[in-house]
Order: sequence, then C-alpha cells, then structure tokens
Amino acid sequence: MTALQHVKLGTYYVVHMPEPDDFGFWRERARALIQCDVPPDRIAWIEPGGSGDLFSHSDFPGGERRMPVPEPDAKPVRANKRFLSLARNAALHSDPERFALLYRLLWRLQAKPRMMEDKADLDVRRLEELDKNVRRDSHKMHAFVRFRRMEGDDRSEHYVAWFEPEHHIVRTNAGFFIRRFANMRWSILTPRGCLHWDGETLSESPPAERSDAPGGDPMEELWRKYYASIFNPARLKVGAMLREMPKKYWKNMPEAELIPQLVAGAQSREAQMVAAGALEFEARPQTLAAIGEAIKDCRKCAIGCLDNRAVMGEGPERASLMIVGEQPGDQEDLAGQPFVGPAGQLLDEHLEKAGIDRPRAYVTNTVKHFKYVQRGKRRLHQTPTAKEIDTCRWWAESERAIVKPRLVLALGASAARGILGKTVSISKARGAPIPLEDGSELWITAHPSYLLRLDGDARAKQAALFDADLAAVKERLVELQA
Ligand code: URA
Repeated sequence: MTALQHVKLGTYYVVHMPEPDDFGFWRERARALIQCDVPPDRIAWIEPGGSGDLFSHSDFPGGERRMPVPEPDAKPVRANKRFLSLARNAALHSDPERFALLYRLLWRLQAKPRMMEDKADLDVRRLEELDKNVRRDSHKMHAFVRFRRMEGDDRSEHYVAWFEPEHHIVRTNAGFFIRRFANMRWSILTPRGCLHWDGETLSESPPAERSDAPGGDPMEELWRKYYASIFNPARLKVGAMLREMPKKYWKNMPEAELIPQLVAGAQSREAQMVAAGALEFEARPQTLAAIGEAIKDCRKCAIGCLDNRAVMGEGPERASLMIVGEQPGDQEDLAGQPFVGPAGQLLDEHLEKAGIDRPRAYVTNTVKHFKYVQRGKRRLHQTPTAKEIDTCRWWAESERAIVKPRLVLALGASAARGILGKTVSISKARGAPIPLEDGSELWITAHPSYLLRLDGDARAKQAALFDADLAAVKERLVELQA
C-alpha cells in the first residue's frame, strides 16, 4: 500500500518525538508527511512522557506508527527563513500542541507561501508568541543561573547551579555557558535535564530535583557584595525590576535577599550618592594621585569586588612614552605595582635590549584590578571581558590625559582594546603607528606573558617580532624628541 493509499483509507499517524526539543527530528518527519500529503488532522505528535498509548488516544484509534515513505518524485517542501527561525525556537516551548501547530503552519505554507506575513493569522500569531516566550526564558537562564562552589574529596572545585526553566531550553543554551565559563567545571541542574562541563567535554544527565543542588556557599557573599555595589538607586523602577527579574527566580539568587532592603533604602542612598558625586564616572580626576585614590573604590564591574587591590600606573607625571598592559597579575596585586612579576621581568629585559629606559616611561594597565579564579591556594589569571575593559578604560584614559605621552605602547589585545575601544588583531596592527585623537600615536605589540607561554622556535620567533616592535618604538621616540 502506498502512502497516498494510507491517507485515502483514512490512516492516522502517530509520531513519537524522541526528545522534547528535537527540532531536527520533527522537521524530517514533517517533510515526509507533507510529501505524502498527510493533512494535519491525521497526525498525533507525542512527546516523551506524553500520552503515547495508541489505543488510549481517542482521536487516533489504531494510529499508524510506521512513517509513510514519499514517492521519489514527490514535490520539495517549501519553508521560508522566517518560518524556520521562529519554528526552531517554538519547538522548545512546553506547549504540548507546538509540534501540531508547526505542522499545520508548514502544511498551509505549501499553498500560501506569503502566509508568514499575515499578522492577523492566528497560527502565525501563536508561533510568534511561542518564539517570544522561549527567547525570554533563555534570557532568564543567562541572567539568573547562579553557581555555588563545591569541593570534591580531592579538593577539586566544581560549581553547581539550580535553575527552573519554563521551556525545553537547557540543551540549546549549553554553548552560552561553555563560552562564558570555559575554564570552570560546572553543572547546571534543572527539572528538564542537566548539563555538565568538565573544562573539555559537555555531558547530559536526566532531570534533577531542587534537593540535588547545594545551598549557599562563600561565593554568594561575593555576589551580594557585587550586587549591592552596582545597585543604582537613582535608576530604581520596582515594576520594571519585577518584570525583568520575576520573584520565582529569587530563591536561587544570593543577591535577591538584598533587594527588599536596597529598595527600602534607595531614596536615602541616592541622596548620599548624589552628594558624593558617585552615580556615574562624572568629572575626570585631575591628578595621578586622585586617580590612584578613586580606583581603590571602583566597583563598576565584578573584578573590583574580588579579593584584590587596585594597582595604579607608575612613572613620571609627564612622560613621552606610556606603556599599557592588560591588568595586574598575582604579583602586581600583592606588590601594588604594575609589571613586577614574570611578565614584567621579561618586559624589562626586552626594553633594555631596545634601549628604552623603563623609569622614564609611564607604565600602567588598562584594567586596574586583578581578575582571577581561585584554584586551591593559587589565583589563576582570567582575561577580562570586552565589557570589563570598556568599563575600566576610563581610568587609563584619565591617566593619559594627565601624562600626555607622545607615544602609547599597548601590550596585547586587551590593552589595545582599552585604548581604541574596539578589538584589533595584534598581527595586523603591529609595526605601524595608529594616530590617536589627542595627537599622540599608538603602537601595538604582543603581551610579554604571551612569550612566556611559548617554547623553542615559536618563542624565539615571537621574541624577535617583539624586539622589532620595541626597536621601532625606540626609533620613533628618538624622532619625536629630535
Ligand atoms: N600583566 C599585565 O598586563 N600587567 C601587569 O602589570 C602584569 C602582568
């Protein structure tokens, strides 16, 4: 019997979805069913755990489990980009009717290719609504997952979070958390399935319960400190806050317990902040000493809330050369001075070789606090994000406005971003000056800690490039001073 005969004979099809979020599976089955001309009301789409017993499914008595096979010359199925992008998200919704809706739309699209433009069409509107709900749920997951630190028997660290998504969004958001927390071992436990990342591979496990996740830990204190410092009473809008951060997520968020007291104290705190001129970066400090004082209190990003200290630049108040690094490292944080650890020592060797006198240069960093993760007793360097660099550049800009160097040397990509406000490739940018708006010029080279990570020929090659860049800087300084 051909597929068409099945349909003509009134056959019903029951499609069992292997996973509730398997859009690829739905798409493949839907394509075959459309090519076999099976109308939407002849198909039951059953989710895992859904009512899968054919004989108890009253609308589909005796439903056919085998899929019909399209004729070799069956017409290709039409689906435009807009439908596919909305459908991919809508398939993750928890509405049990979603796969039927998607099929109905795909079926109708074959006869009416412009249907997606019809804003009044009820199916199109429902599809848009499902897409919106799923995007919103993903946004909540990105914003409200909070990891708690756990220590294994071998003292290794593992971060565990509990989250309750409304839709089947866990798997699709794995990439976001891998990119953001690539160097951590973490698990996200949810009642819709769990994700685990060991620093290299992602694995999944079945749904978990709230009691499987740990309670509070010392990291929470850090979150609370950070949240209290970024909470801006002048911008407080309680209604909008509740819309963005619904109360149901509060129980997993250590900072949430501060909200009632911060809201209650908002008015008086705002008055104090206005009086202290602390709402924004407002006026630039006019001396290096004032910058040195101000950065100690900077909590504009989470790095300033770690257990570290702000490290100010050092060197003459007027210098022809300003050298800018990324951020203080462990040793710089302890000493309170820039470039005194291993990268600083290597930098000194190469500066000397190039004939550049470090004490005559002003040496600083684009990010003022050390960003790290704690591994046992060690604090491991973490690269600042673009946003953190962009937030902190205010301080190095303020230093530059005072020191007024003729030439700025940026060591590495973070420093270059801190000066230019955009990301550049070191290999493309090195070797030639970039004019800056204040009339000085920027030279970009690699960061010495990059050389420290290399060995053998690769190290020798990069060291030669670094020396060539420093030699060009020296030559240019001599020219500018002539
Ligand atoms: N790396 C930097 O970028 N700056 C320092 O001060 C030390 C290491």
